Amino acid sequence: MIRAVLGGTASRLRTLLIFAAIVLMHGCSRSDRPATAQAPMPTLPATSVLTTPVAAPDSALAALGRQIFFDTSLSASGQQSCATCHSPDHAYGPPNSLAVQMGGPKLDRQGMRAVPSLRYALNHTPVWSKAFVSSMAERVLEGDEPPVGGFGWDGRFNTLHEQAAFPLLAPNEMANRDAAEVVDRIRHATYAPDFKRAFGADIFNDPERAFQQMLRAIERFELEDASFHPYDSKFDFYLDDKVSLTPQEQRGLALFNDPQRGNCASCHLDRPGADGSHPLFTDYQFEALGVPRNREIKANANAGYFDSGLCGPLRKDQASQSQYCGMFKTPTLRNVARRQVFFHNGRFHSLREALRFYVQRDTAPQRWYPLGPNGIEKKFDDIPPQFRRNVDVVDLPLTLSKGQAPFWNDSDIDDVIAFLETLDDGYELNRSISGEVGQP
Ligand code: HEC
Ligand code: HEC
Repeated sequence: MIRAVLGGTASRLRTLLIFAAIVLMHGCSRSDRPATAQAPMPTLPATSVLTTPVAAPDSALAALGRQIFFDTSLSASGQQSCATCHSPDHAYGPPNSLAVQMGGPKLDRQGMRAVPSLRYALNHTPVWSKAFVSSMAERVLEGDEPPVGGFGWDGRFNTLHEQAAFPLLAPNEMANRDAAEVVDRIRHATYAPDFKRAFGADIFNDPERAFQQMLRAIERFELEDASFHPYDSKFDFYLDDKVSLTPQEQRGLALFNDPQRGNCASCHLDRPGADGSHPLFTDYQFEALGVPRNREIKANANAGYFDSGLCGPLRKDQASQSQYCGMFKTPTLRNVARRQVFFHNGRFHSLREALRFYVQRDTAPQRWYPLGPNGIEKKFDDIPPQFRRNVDVVDLPLTLSKGQAPFWNDSDIDDVIAFLETLDDGYELNRSISGEVGQP
């Protein structure tokens, strides 16, 4: 309930208004907080792990999971592992500027979505849910509050082991026929003896069980290995008072936070938690931002095809929830400056363009969307017309109209980029401190 009331999105604002009406009706005033206020970290299920980096060495299962994660022989092409798309040198994100990666037996089949980074978010992702405030309010709010959590841009997997089966079997990714084929490849892998040691000498006689154990090993690696959450960005050292931000980085941070001029932190949370845990720059909630259609994705040549995120076609269980069409999960912004593709459809290839889109989507729509026959730009052209009303138009900076001055000019954008670069991992504390003294 708190989450639904205090967030900063279109549906959250609606929720706030309706909820405020309900509490007034009931004669108590609970929520006078503006919808743009910094939202708290979402409540995590009891099984979640804290942010403190794991000092202990990985368990045997995680060590096995590491071998599996990097094993290209587990794909039909023989050339693709999890790490091919989730490159450890790129914060477990894509190693190139392709909007979507190629896969399949001949590596000639296009993916549907941009590869997300696997750093930081995984061990904090809540299971997918849509929260209701109460049974009475539920009737008013049915379907109107922002859903949260789950893995994938559409949140369709609740656990990492469920998720891991998808790329192994997807015809345009690692393209195995079935679980038995994957297990057969493991049987021939160099680490097959480790696999038997972990799960029993006869494990390969039961392919379904072997497959499930393999998925759990991948999950343990993703949750335990310190390389998924190093917390060694300049911003982390800044939070620990070990380094200060430059004036430009500070200006960028202030714009990122400012509810009147940027408001980014209302969804990309950037305050430490009560337990001192460092922020992850996501609230795991879903939004429709109206990112323009991307012609680099071949499926988009079919004018009737739309990737509508939460309501399908990849995700099936929310297909009837038309108010969710066009919504995707808020990604972490840690290491975002290292990416070469942005948003779920990889429409933008530089951080500058991604930020310009935020502040000019509504002030200069002709820049982002194609013109219709009437000479008016077709706004939100990657969402079916009947669902374009789902797009967020109430959260700053997405609130302006054509011809108005955007909230940020180019120099503001430079400042925010400078700030976002402080979220890159691998900051060398000592070298940079001594380096900064002598340099302008
Ligand atoms: C061909 C490229 C490719 C390969 C290979 C690949 N992935 Fe992914 N991965 C993606 C894409 C694209 C997404 C986003 C999918 C979506 O939203 O539907 C993704 C999403 C994920 C997510 C969800 C992250 C989040 O925060 O929601 C996890 C976890 C993940 N992959 C793990 C793996 C594992 C484990 C493997 C190997 C078994 C793997 N991936 C292989 C492309 C790939
Ligand atoms: C209402 C919630 C919300 C607000 C406010 C918001 N974002 Fe986002 N952000 C999202 C969502 C949701 C996505 C993914 C949308 C998609 O791919 O369709 C996203 C994606 C991004 C991405 C792409 C990251 C990637 O890995 O592809 C960047 C960069 C970004 N946001 C920066 C910002 C900045 C800077 C601001 C402030 C101007 C901001 N966001 C404000 C919700 C929000």
